[in-house]
Amino acid sequence: MPDHRPRRLLFVCLGNICRSPSAEGLARRAIAEAGLDGLIETDSAGTGDWHAGEPPDLRATAACAARGVDISDLRARQAAPEDFERFDRILAMDASNLANLRRLSPGDGTRADLAMMLDFGDAATREVPDPYYGGSDGFEHMLDLLETAVAALIEEERRLIAAR
Ligand code: 4NP
Repeated sequence: MPDHRPRRLLFVCLGNICRSPSAEGLARRAIAEAGLDGLIETDSAGTGDWHAGEPPDLRATAACAARGVDISDLRARQAAPEDFERFDRILAMDASNLANLRRLSPGDGTRADLAMMLDFGDAATREVPDPYYGGSDGFEHMLDLLETAVAALIEEERRLIAAR
């Protein structure tokens, strides 16, 4: 039987107000542009709970909007152990997020593949730096890194979906 359940992707950072909602917004656009709406679903979360219920940081919202991506509808939430069964892939923005997610995971054999976001694409760095305490350059650098990685991720997802 073909598996027509949508692929589900979860983007995770620390606060869920800068990097992971930006990644989700870019992914939503890439999915739509690839004609994959309904075949891939997205969400984002933070390993911390400080910003739960809040919209993205206004600097992230503005930087995304300047690239034609609306993330103003997103709301922060904290990652939970159940996410490892609800998602097919969990993408960590930095090594600290990855370590925190490993601690949160119920263990081996969960549905989700846990990876670093920058395992996708050809960035010279492995981590998306946290732009929260810096200036607007940090947000532009974040989006440059994420755009390339998201394009490679969605292309990989397109191949997986086409092969099933
Ligand atoms: P994010 O950035 O992990 O990319 O959403 C941060 C946002 C808030 C905080 C840290 C990082 N904070 O400490 O409140």
